Amino acid sequence: MEIKRIAVLGAGLMGHGICQVAAQNGGYEVNLRDIEQRFLDNGMAMIKRSLQKFQSKGKLAEGQAAEILNRIHPMLDLKETVSDADLIVEAVPENVELKTATFREVDRFAPTHAIIASNTSSISITELGSATNRPEKVCGMHFFNPPQLMKLVEVVKGTKSSDETIQTVLDVAHKIGKETVLVKKDCPGFIVNRILVPALNEAAALYWEGIADRDDIDKAIKLGLNWPMGPLMLTDYIGADTVLAITDVLMKGIDPKFHPSPGLKQMVKARLLGRKTGQGYYDWTQK
Ligand code: 3HC
Repeated sequence: MEIKRIAVLGAGLMGHGICQVAAQNGGYEVNLRDIEQRFLDNGMAMIKRSLQKFQSKGKLAEGQAAEILNRIHPMLDLKETVSDADLIVEAVPENVELKTATFREVDRFAPTHAIIASNTSSISITELGSATNRPEKVCGMHFFNPPQLMKLVEVVKGTKSSDETIQTVLDVAHKIGKETVLVKKDCPGFIVNRILVPALNEAAALYWEGIADRDDIDKAIKLGLNWPMGPLMLTDYIGADTVLAITDVLMKGIDPKFHPSPGLKQMVKARLLGRKTGQGYYDWTQK
């Protein structure tokens, strides 16, 4: 199936980046939707800042940023956003009730041929598919933060996702310049988060137990494993609330051994969520 127009639901940390790469690398027309004007404005401001960065590094020619922005159509109304889309990528906050309700509503308004993909990092694709009358046209399309720079997309097959749906979404991901991996079974955390999030949870535990200082925990993993940033900084980058939410899903969906550490829970209770609240393990107000 040929995809011409993509709708991205949610203009937050992930949604704005997904929208940008679709318009920038894939040349797609993209409808970008959020529920309030200020969220849309914030998303568009992040896209403009990112395009400026690419331009200042010579990765975008003069005038290209304007062309990309012309392909992005910010919207508040869900029906308007999805009614002419061939592919809908849902990137609303990681909450199962919200995502299910969103899928139900999108299913009502989207054309019958349209594929609905979720950027969820941990929620069941099969369950989201069951909220629609087109589970064969539902799959996971999981980007990594920041979507503008991270090469990978995990494409996740729900129990009823058709081979055609999976192939179409793989093709779109390749067209927007990404490498893909196929997650053949819909299992909590897919591949990356099943490995990453327990590591971030253990870093929170080490810190909470006073076994090492923040900088030494991060230094150990940066230099010992060649990660681009240490696990505590990465937790701040992703958001401690998101890391906790994924930990809960792994614990409930796979094994109690994935239970969250008291240290991680404490960060969330204190709203020390990292970049998004300005303070986490690090101070982000100056960055
Ligand atoms: N758009 C365009 N350019 C950007 C950008 C953006 N959004 N963000 C950063 N850049 C540019 C910077 O301007 C900089 O350019 P320069 O090299 O010319 O100065 C370059 O990218 C590198 O950025 P920084 O100097 O700020 O920092 P780093 O060198 O540390 O690179 C990073 C940034 C790519 C984010 C790197 O730190 C990294 O790879 N970190 C790990 C990220 C990661 O693990 N992400 C996955 C998280 S897990 C996830 O998303 C799954 C979810 O489900 C939880």
